[in-house]
Amino acid sequence: MSFDRSIKIAPSILSADFANFGQEIRAIEAQGADWVHVDVMDGHFVPNLTFGPPAVKAFRPHVTTFMDVHLMIAPVDPYIEAYAEAGADMITAHLEAGPHIHRTLQAIKATGKMAGVSLNPGTPAESIADLLDVVDMVLVMTVNPGFGGQKFLPLGIEKTRKIREMIGDRPIHIQVDGGVTPETVGALAAAGGDVFVAGSAVFKGGSVDNPAPYGDNIRAIRAAAVKALK
Ligand code: DX5
Ligand code: ZN
Repeated sequence: MSFDRSIKIAPSILSADFANFGQEIRAIEAQGADWVHVDVMDGHFVPNLTFGPPAVKAFRPHVTTFMDVHLMIAPVDPYIEAYAEAGADMITAHLEAGPHIHRTLQAIKATGKMAGVSLNPGTPAESIADLLDVVDMVLVMTVNPGFGGQKFLPLGIEKTRKIREMIGDRPIHIQVDGGVTPETVGALAAAGGDVFVAGSAVFKGGSVDNPAPYGDNIRAIRAAAVKALK
């Protein structure tokens, strides 16, 4: 299959109803989500705690698109196998999570899964220069990781542009995560992002009993991104 750099929307289930993950995942997919983004937090690398491998394994049967697992944990390496077995399609690790990110990315690839590298807002674009041969995706954080609903940090726009230039023709996605809305996504798409994570901007106004707003929200984000590419 040829590499697809078209705009993709990846709702973060961090903003879903925590008592109804299966239904929420099915609802966002029915409403047009391209990927499902799972935020894994350890209360150490980031000040919040979320999903262990058994939770991710329980999400898996509900996902028919692509399950993108964003690990905000340190250390990463001891848990790669467990998240791979839980059914992740892509595993993304933070460059800041340990001294050997290249080894971590190789270990993810060795499981047969796709590998992503994530950059905190304080980490410059140039720091991934020597990782481009081992990654399938670069994740540009536009908030400090740990929570949904934070304010967008515009420094991610220029960082996305630089990374897009560094990537050139390589088949590597650029994902942007944090404060993505119809208002902020245009500049990020124009800069070269292709996968947009959105938590609060997708789930706002809807629920499992009233999922139509999820679709309106996803379409609004996608339309603003596509418009910026014209
Ligand atoms: C933040 C997470 C994000 C978060 C995004 O640490 O990585 O995926 O859920 O939430 P919003 O879209 O509300 O900023
Ligand atoms: Zn995330």
